[in-house]
Amino acid sequence: MSSPASPDQMGGQTPKAFKPRIFSGIQPSGGLTLGNYLGALKRFVEKQDEGIETIYCLVDMHAITVWQDPAKLRQQTREGAAAFIAAGIDPARSILFNQSQVGAHAELGWIFNCVARMGWMGRMTQFKDKAGKNSENVSLGLFAYPALMAADILLYHATMVPVGEDQKQHLELTRDIAIKFNNDYGVDFFPVVEPLIEGAATRVMSLRDGSKKMSKSDPSDQSRINLTDDADTIAAKIRKAKTDTEPLPETVDGLRDRPEAKNLVNIYSALSGQSVAEVVAEFANTQFGSFKPRLAELAVARLSPITGEMNRLMADPAEIDRILADGADRADAIARPILEQVYAITGMIRSRGK
Ligand code: AMP
Ligand code: TRP
Repeated sequence: MSSPASPDQMGGQTPKAFKPRIFSGIQPSGGLTLGNYLGALKRFVEKQDEGIETIYCLVDMHAITVWQDPAKLRQQTREGAAAFIAAGIDPARSILFNQSQVGAHAELGWIFNCVARMGWMGRMTQFKDKAGKNSENVSLGLFAYPALMAADILLYHATMVPVGEDQKQHLELTRDIAIKFNNDYGVDFFPVVEPLIEGAATRVMSLRDGSKKMSKSDPSDQSRINLTDDADTIAAKIRKAKTDTEPLPETVDGLRDRPEAKNLVNIYSALSGQSVAEVVAEFANTQFGSFKPRLAELAVARLSPITGEMNRLMADPAEIDRILADGADRADAIARPILEQVYAITGMIRSRGK
């Protein structure tokens, strides 16, 4: 194995203790859903409001691992930024930007392609799900995707990553990449990150099938609530949501083996801020015919101010681009020195412009 890095390899600096810093990302590969809101956005805002340093990214480089129409990608990136701000992200307190504006992500992503092992990547369930039987014909980027995600996080020495349940395996891989890099080069350079997967809505399910996650890429629009849906559409989708025929149970345990009922109760809990036990107590023995209108009312009350604010922000795309550019400058100022240290550690000569 290699010997510990010399100060020269460390870019002349000794590693700092890792201060708490949050990073997370969302793909601008479609409109955002209630799943993104409850599993990610809402919690991003809570973390910002707890006063932790927060960096949030629209990962456009990740989005093109599957085909994206260029005009739509631009639109969805701005819409994603508008959703962050409408949900409560303050671009003065959090850093908000799109990934491609900070080239260091792709640069560290390449280095991590050389750290991660084929076997690790081949075990990623999201790749297997997305590639399906078509694995010969998907992009190489889709396979390498989790190494770029590790780069997103580690480029900022982020210590905590709020995500939904579906990202757990990618965060384990991020830890493996950090550990292997540190071991291979004999440094204590990258932190081992903590996933933050918390709350009642870490996995919001499809409204049409309680065994599938709610997703912006599901072919059925009825399966999801989009942040851009109006009040009538939200109410209609909830009214038509698949359920069983039993009334709601008296105990949380009674939701077991009732995926659709469980999903609607979890959504109610996350939107209202009540615990699942409190929601079950309030609606014990209630028929869906009565519960669904209450859920629709709550969803509309929570989401319509966000939708309204998103629409207002989308009327001024130049302002959104300005916010993203400012965020990218601030992100770059943190990322560049860390990347330069990585280049020094790995033995790359960087004499240009010095
Ligand atoms: P993506 O839309 O795949 O870029 O996901 C962005 C963030 O939203 C990630 O933290 C996901 O884990 C989270 N997320 C996406 N869909 C859901 C869902 N149905 N339930 C909970 N969290 C979700
Ligand atoms: N892979 C994540 C998703 O599909 C998006 C993502 C990319 C991300 N880079 C990230 C999430 C870094 C957290 C941190 O949902």
